[in-house]
Amino acid sequence: MATTLISGGTVVTATGRSAADVLVDGEKIAAVLAPGSTLLGHDLAASVDTVLDATGKYVIPGGIDAHTHMQMPFGGTEASDTFETGTRAAAWGGTTTIVDFAIQRYGERVMDGLAAWHDKAAGECAIDYGFHQIIGDVNDDSLKAMESLVDEGVSSYKLFMAYPGVFYSDDAQIYKAMRVGAETGLMTMMHAENGPAIDAMVAELLAQGKTDPYYHGVARAWQMEEEATHRAIMLANLTGAPLYVVHVSAKQAVEQLAAARDNGQNVFGETCPQYLYLSLEDQLGAGGFEGAKWVCSTPLRSKHEHHQDHMWQSLRTNDIQMVATDHCPFCMKGQKDMGVGDFSKIPNGIGSVEHRMDLMYQGVVDGKISLERWVEITSTTPARMFGMYGAKGVIAPGADADVVIYDPNGHTSIGLDKTHHMNMDYSAWEGFEIEGHVDTVMSRGRVVINNNEYLGSKGHGQYVRRSTSQYLV
Ligand code: URP
Ligand code: ZN
Ligand code: ZN
Repeated sequence: MATTLISGGTVVTATGRSAADVLVDGEKIAAVLAPGSTLLGHDLAASVDTVLDATGKYVIPGGIDAHTHMQMPFGGTEASDTFETGTRAAAWGGTTTIVDFAIQRYGERVMDGLAAWHDKAAGECAIDYGFHQIIGDVNDDSLKAMESLVDEGVSSYKLFMAYPGVFYSDDAQIYKAMRVGAETGLMTMMHAENGPAIDAMVAELLAQGKTDPYYHGVARAWQMEEEATHRAIMLANLTGAPLYVVHVSAKQAVEQLAAARDNGQNVFGETCPQYLYLSLEDQLGAGGFEGAKWVCSTPLRSKHEHHQDHMWQSLRTNDIQMVATDHCPFCMKGQKDMGVGDFSKIPNGIGSVEHRMDLMYQGVVDGKISLERWVEITSTTPARMFGMYGAKGVIAPGADADVVIYDPNGHTSIGLDKTHHMNMDYSAWEGFEIEGHVDTVMSRGRVVINNNEYLGSKGHGQYVRRSTSQYLV
């Protein structure tokens, strides 16, 4: 087994930072030692196979992106990143684990959906991966199948209050699924938007000739997110199911989550970089069809309503617990352009899996979150929330050697002809400048990125069997 010493860096965890060397033996972290330590009289640097010099840099647990959709069939097309291209891009950005969504569609069996996603991912991934299960058809058969998901290493499932006719569940279906969630310990993940009301508004806007991408954001009003979030919380309260609301963008939805948490309920929220940096006016309203690049649901919110400031604050106060990307990329040509003349036909999704660690680190530079909180919301909490902690989300003996060396004095210019490895013909983050740089990425002991070079390979990534949430009270 190869041994590596990461020496001279500052190890940052969710709870603190310290100067320390990290000894990696094979796929695991063997020891975290005072700088320059010897082990049983041996000079470590001289004894290991490889020394990675992290002087002046941060040594952090690899990022965990707990919300991705690689090659997801959606909106009449398929998300443009495969498990191969998407996980490679993730590695470039310092993410060493993704949790993607297996899908059971209407009329399909849950375990067939899960098996299909295993087939797509197996042998393709550059980094480790797990699955949540989308239940797109809640019925007696799927409710029964949900009882076996934890045995499959799938400890969370997603329901949709949006997208009628696609993945939508009505309140009775949600109630029944949450009953199973409460009994089995499965985390209920909720896409909380009032889909039927949104569809009515979409039809009104289109009838008025309001067809530009901007109106995607108008139709999916914050009231629709707040209402659905509240309803999901009440159903979770009634059933006793733990609830995790995905891609939260509206400050009113955060307030619903915060109130429920203050009330002692096991309710959690995830936001995404797009809701922290981008807006209805500047991106969706960019003019003409340009805004299609940023059509996603929940939508970007108005900068005049202070959702972004509130979201950053919520990350500080733990009203929102973590940041995932909801990576669901589509190209402009041949995919997004299906919605020219009708915004409702633009496939919903943004690609960010490569940039999440950098974009959130910029929040540290900008004084919005602490260094430790950066690690917590991008790695440690996702690991705990979704039953991977111990192996993932931490730098400690026995943990998987998923480690990132991050240079706070480095620089990252994001753009299509600069750092771009996602399979998209545009970057939703074009022109963003990050005052930091992912220097080295290690996935289970193997260096997959080093000094702007990809050293990984498809098939290195392994399926992560997850246990139930380690975040519940
Ligand atoms: O726009 C989005 N969010 N696309 C991916 C599907 C989903 O709802 O998460
Ligand atoms: Zn969703
Ligand atoms: Zn999603």
